Amino acid sequence: MTASARSLEFCGVALRGPVLNGSGTFDAIAARRAFGDVLLERFPFDAFVSKTITLEPRQGNPPPRLWETPAGLINSIGLPNKGLEGFLASDLPELVELPVPLVVSVMGFSRDELAALVERVGERDEVAMIELNFSCPNVETGLVMGADPAETARALERVRPLTSKPLIVKLTPNADDPPAVAAAAEGAGADAVSLINTLKGMALDPDTRRPWLGGVTGGVSGPAVRAVALEQVHAVSTRVAIPAIGMGGIASGRHAADFLAAGATCVAVGTESFRDPAAGRRVAEELEELRRRAGTRPTRLEATASPSGGQAAAFSP
Ligand SMILES: Cc1cc2nc3c(=O)[nH]c(=O)nc-3n(C[C@H](O)[C@H](O)[C@H](O)COP(=O)(O)O)c2cc1C
Repeated sequence: MTASARSLEFCGVALRGPVLNGSGTFDAIAARRAFGDVLLERFPFDAFVSKTITLEPRQGNPPPRLWETPAGLINSIGLPNKGLEGFLASDLPELVELPVPLVVSVMGFSRDELAALVERVGERDEVAMIELNFSCPNVETGLVMGADPAETARALERVRPLTSKPLIVKLTPNADDPPAVAAAAEGAGADAVSLINTLKGMALDPDTRRPWLGGVTGGVSGPAVRAVALEQVHAVSTRVAIPAIGMGGIASGRHAADFLAAGATCVAVGTESFRDPAAGRRVAEELEELRRRAGTRPTRLEATASPSGGQAAAFSP
């Protein structure tokens, strides 16, 4: 299979393949400093998603910020970033040198903040798509934007008219009904969804039995969340027609093939990149090998009614 056989269009953006990074899990600017231009020649992802930026600069949470679980991480990073102006002035010029389309992830603590971010980022030709990180409380309503379908729709309705760039809504798994949130996002003009963000979690210091993380609670990621993510990707893809980027514990081509079979159009590698900075490329190569051996694209999961009246999943040939 040639390189072009991997390529696809996602929301009208040409990608050389389906493997992206999860926002906040690969620092391309630091990696370029560490590895030099080799990084550009062998860039591990088919599109690059920036770490989430906010309107104002943020310090992030106090340390410690990470706890390693037997099968993943709990992070309490707290979105440290330079803020919109700092990002545009110093990070964007470096990120545009990457050899793949750029997705900028933004988070607003109110609809006005979100609107300012989308408007300014959307003006930049170098940005291919905007990801809306909705795992944050709206300070005006106290509701987590992505946990509530109506809140999600209101946020989308506010920002949709401000840009013609594709808008990807990053869903939180910490919601009662992620497919309903995805449907609300689709109805209000989202072009795609990505999921899952981290699951809420906590770790205690083994000596003091007090919270280990400076932020008290954190987000669980890595292999521990893969089964949850796969189910949510399947449920969301069954519910909406817009494409999905599936992520959560993907560490091999086999895992990526599972997410594609569950309904995702693209996948993202997150926590695995901390263990192996070249993981994105390896996952893509393993996925290619699986496709080559199968002689076709991975099969897609289809929901079928089970005799008990519930939903059962079957692999379609
Ligand atoms: C250290 C760390 C930082 C993260 N930062 C962000 C972020 O800035 N924005 C975001 O939308 N998701 C962030 N995430 C979530 C990931 O993008 C991804 O959705 C999640 O970790 C699940 O994928 P994984 O299990 O492959 O890591 C972060 C995850 C980790 C582990």
